[in-house]
Amino acid sequence: MILSIDQGTTGTTAFVFDTCGALIGHSYSEISNYYPKPGWVEQNAEEIWQVTRYVCSAALERAGIRASDIQAVGITNQRETTILWDRYTGEPVHPAIVWQCRRSAEICAELAAGGNAHWLRERSGLLLDAYFSASKLLWLFRQNPELLARARSGALCFGTVDSWLIWKMSGGRAHLTDHTNASRTLLYNLAQKHWDPELLALFDCPESILPEIRPSAGYFTDADPEAFLGTGAPICGVAGDQQAALFGQGCIHPGNIKNTYGTGCFMLAFAGEMPSALPQGLLATVACDVHGDPAYAVEGSVFTAGSAVQWLRDELGLIQQTAETEMIAQSVPDTRGVYLVPAFSGLGAPYWNPLARGAICGLSRGSGRAELVRATLESIAYQSDELVCLMSEALGLPISHMRVDGGASANNFLMQFQADISALRVERPRQIESTAIGAALLAGIGSGLWQSQRLPECLQEIERDFRPAMAAPKRTSLLAGWKRAVSACQAF
Ligand code: G3P
Repeated sequence: MILSIDQGTTGTTAFVFDTCGALIGHSYSEISNYYPKPGWVEQNAEEIWQVTRYVCSAALERAGIRASDIQAVGITNQRETTILWDRYTGEPVHPAIVWQCRRSAEICAELAAGGNAHWLRERSGLLLDAYFSASKLLWLFRQNPELLARARSGALCFGTVDSWLIWKMSGGRAHLTDHTNASRTLLYNLAQKHWDPELLALFDCPESILPEIRPSAGYFTDADPEAFLGTGAPICGVAGDQQAALFGQGCIHPGNIKNTYGTGCFMLAFAGEMPSALPQGLLATVACDVHGDPAYAVEGSVFTAGSAVQWLRDELGLIQQTAETEMIAQSVPDTRGVYLVPAFSGLGAPYWNPLARGAICGLSRGSGRAELVRATLESIAYQSDELVCLMSEALGLPISHMRVDGGASANNFLMQFQADISALRVERPRQIESTAIGAALLAGIGSGLWQSQRLPECLQEIERDFRPAMAAPKRTSLLAGWKRAVSACQAF
């Protein structure tokens, strides 16, 4: 049995797969996100750990197996989220700063004004943006110089969520990460595949706080039975959630593309070799490192997708459950000209504007709940379409189809609208939890239970293929409206 843990921005899911790749039990629980100021997002690292332990135990129970039946553990996680904890007590010293949090935007602007943007992009494949971990760390050190002193004395550990979970599961014995997660920190040298001394210096980051970097598939450490459900199972697969999904979708050949519809939307194309010149809005990043030599991927990132639907539920109270949105959106022929731009955490690709904030444009007296719900779903597709355009520019060819996964890919209205607005085929696999599948595969390969990279056939099966059906003039006019709405939200 393989236990695969998917620790995402809105919740944690644990999955139990048998060694033939069949899913035999799973459990999910949401985690709290806190929004103390506009553009800020925090989580409680201790809660992340407690919820993870709870869903793992519940998944084992549902699968009807004992903890001692687990042969390997895979971990996949929300990336970039920054956690700093005390090496001796294991206590976090600050709320986790979530990847969506914009608090370090000013630091990034200051470093960009100092002429650092260009070399930093060449070195890391990323952009000087608050999305990545390094400026969040620097924000913490500037805010609280005592933390910097403790970090310099070796008393603190930094980690993204993977490192934090490995630390807790191993009872505080192992401080590790993998290349995919390291490549999202802005502290990692993409070509040389190690922490970069000049990037560390730029962000005032003492090397002693960093985890050791390991391949995504391979032995990391054993769980400590006292800390984790009474099992000493080895952790043998670790990857950031978007790279895990790419692997879980079987995208292991150059040009293979997937788009994951989660809290945000992340489109990744497997590249193999390290990409050189990319359109400005795209990132170069590490794809899963299975044979000890990391391959690369190209990524387009959208910050708010599924979380906009949660906003309809939690803040506006317009829906009770996210699944209702499909029927509500289909109950009207269109949005009557309403556009919602969910720039709650600024805008990612292609704009990279940390100061943009959300907007609803085109309201008229007849606009109602259904129009707003539909506009929210459509905004996810419009943003993804901007990624399709960038990706097509990067690959130098039009994109005719893409694989999709993640919770919101279950929404048939959204998938059909995506196919229509992007004029491409959208292929949805039977199992849309590709992220967890990727982590399970990495753990299976890393532990030697599975010899090959090939996915069990049942996981790769396409359940539905959405084909474009919208007339070109309508598409052009809708896209023009979206562009106007995005300009309005950036001008605000
Ligand atoms: O880079 C952020 C990403 O890893 C978050 O993923 O699944 O929580 O939307 P998700």
